[in-house]
This record gives sequence, C-alpha cells and structure tokens, in this order.
Amino acid sequence: MAHVVSTINLKGGVGKTHTTVALAEVYSALLRKKVLVIDLDPQTNATTMLIGEEKWAELNKKDQTLARLFKDALDPENPKFDLGKSLQKHVSDVQSAKTIDLLPSSLDLIDVQDRLATVPSGRFYAVNPIDLLTRAVRPIVDDYDIILIDCPPNLGVITLNGLRMSNGYVIPTIPDVLSTYGIPQIVKRVGEFSQQIAEPIEPLGIVVSKYREQSTVHQNVVKRLREGKDAPLFKTIIKENNQIASAAEFSTGQRTLKQKYGYQWQVDAYEALAKEIWEALEG
Ligand SMILES: Nc1ncnc2c1ncn2[C@@H]1O[C@H](COP(=O)(O)OP(=O)(O)O)[C@@H](O)[C@H]1O
Ligand SMILES: [Mg+2]
Repeated sequence: MAHVVSTINLKGGVGKTHTTVALAEVYSALLRKKVLVIDLDPQTNATTMLIGEEKWAELNKKDQTLARLFKDALDPENPKFDLGKSLQKHVSDVQSAKTIDLLPSSLDLIDVQDRLATVPSGRFYAVNPIDLLTRAVRPIVDDYDIILIDCPPNLGVITLNGLRMSNGYVIPTIPDVLSTYGIPQIVKRVGEFSQQIAEPIEPLGIVVSKYREQSTVHQNVVKRLREGKDAPLFKTIIKENNQIASAAEFSTGQRTLKQKYGYQWQVDAYEALAKEIWEALEG
C-alpha cells in the first residue's frame, strides 16, 4: 500500500514545494520508489517545477488539471474530470528520476475552493466534498510506493482533501518566529480532523528549511523545535542555498540531482530527510 504524505504550513514561502519536489526526485532517483506528486496548491509551483510552464498552460487550457475534479463537484450532472488525461507520467527534469507521475494543479483552484466552501452540503448528495480527491485517485493509489501532496497554505476544503487520504504530514518551516507561529494550530486542527474522519493522520515531523547557520534566531528556534512540543523535528536540516532557486526553473534538458540542487551536500540532505520520513511512516 502506498504511503501518502501531505506537505503543509499555513505560511507561504517556507519551502513546502521545494521539499515536496526534492523528496519526490530523491525517492525516485536514489531510493527507487514509484512516486505520485499531487499538486493541490493553486500557485501551481510543484506542477511547473515538474513539467514546465508550457506544458502546464496546455493542460490548463484543456481543463486537464485537478481543478476539473473539484469543478465537477459543483456541477455533478456533468462530470468531466478524466484521471487518465490529467495524470502526467514520468515527469521531472532529473535524468535518473524516471518514476514520478504528477496530478497537476491550476490557478482555477482558488475560485473553486471559494465556491465549494459556500455550497450548502445538501447539494452534494453523492459525495462528501472532502472525499473528492480520495475517490478520484483510488484506482491508481496502489501503483505507487509513496504519494506526496503539496497543499496550499490554509486548512480549507482543498487541503482537507489532501489530508483525507494522507497517513501523515510534514511541516516545512523556516526556523523563525513568524514561520513557526502557526505550527501548534496546524497540529491541533489536523488532529481534530483526524478524529472526525476516524483515520490516523500522523504529524511525521517538522522540516527545517532555508536554515542560516549564522543566524541566532534560527539557532534558537531550532533548539526550541527540537523539544518536540507540537511535533517531532526531523534531524536533517535543509540549509539555505542560493543555488537552489534555479531548481524551481524547469529545465528542458535533463540534469543530475547535483546540477539541479547546486551541491552534493544539498542532495545528501534531501536523501537523509527522505529516509527519515520513510522510517517515520514504517515505524
Ligand atoms: N533551501 C533553500 N535555500 C534557498 N532558497 C530556497 C530553499 N528552499 C526554497 N527556497 C526558495 O524559497 C522560496 C519559497 O520556496 P517554496 O518551496 O516555493 O515555498 P512554499 O511552497 O512554502 O511557498 C522559493 O523562491 C524557493 O526557490
Ligand atoms: Mg508552494
């Protein structure tokens, strides 16, 4: 059975998407896993990192993104989402990452999320709106070893769709006061949601990203996170690395992990993190 992991933080810009994509590439290229990335964030960054903007624009025009799935819920008489057409196979520009598939996101998800939130629940006679993703993806779940879900920075109905099918979640954060502020709230709210649906959703751990060794604030916040009051802290720390920004730019030529992430130590860090997450999932 596939492990399903959501990446979540209520704050944007904390490294959620980079963590999700780098983990996908390391699981595929180095740990030989079959990976599905589900992009639920209307910012579509994971999608464009994995297939490029041109391909995304083409899919978006044909309405072959996850937005279609949620639009169908608003117009249940006329369902148009086609899993086979939306599923992008063998994505990523890393040459040795050959086993990553993607369900792409769309900017339209913003609008859909707002409309879903205001529809009276009676309208959904067939399907509970938090079950839409789980039901749609069910036919292919067992094709993968791990499914990584990049969630938007809120706990709205789209995010709940991701959490609904997750065994656990990771919280990437910059180790500063503002970025870590919402963590207790996430853990509490996801815990309550997990109780409501009577399925465990484990807080697998907090991932420190964009760490600056010289910063006293970063050092102190890491010390505090290490106490594990809200969720455990992964031992692996992802340092800030200016080269890494180029990883966000989809390359039409294939490249190595090291070329993409700038340095071997950065690749090693993502690999160590991938192994820690795997252990937390199996443990
Ligand atoms: N380890 C890192 N070092 C330097 N910059 C990073 C690192 N991780 C992410 N970034 C940059 O930080 C910004 C936000 O990262 P992103 O993963 O998109 O965050 P989120 O998904 O939480 O909004 C991006 O511009 C990205 O290139
Ligand atoms: Mg993001």
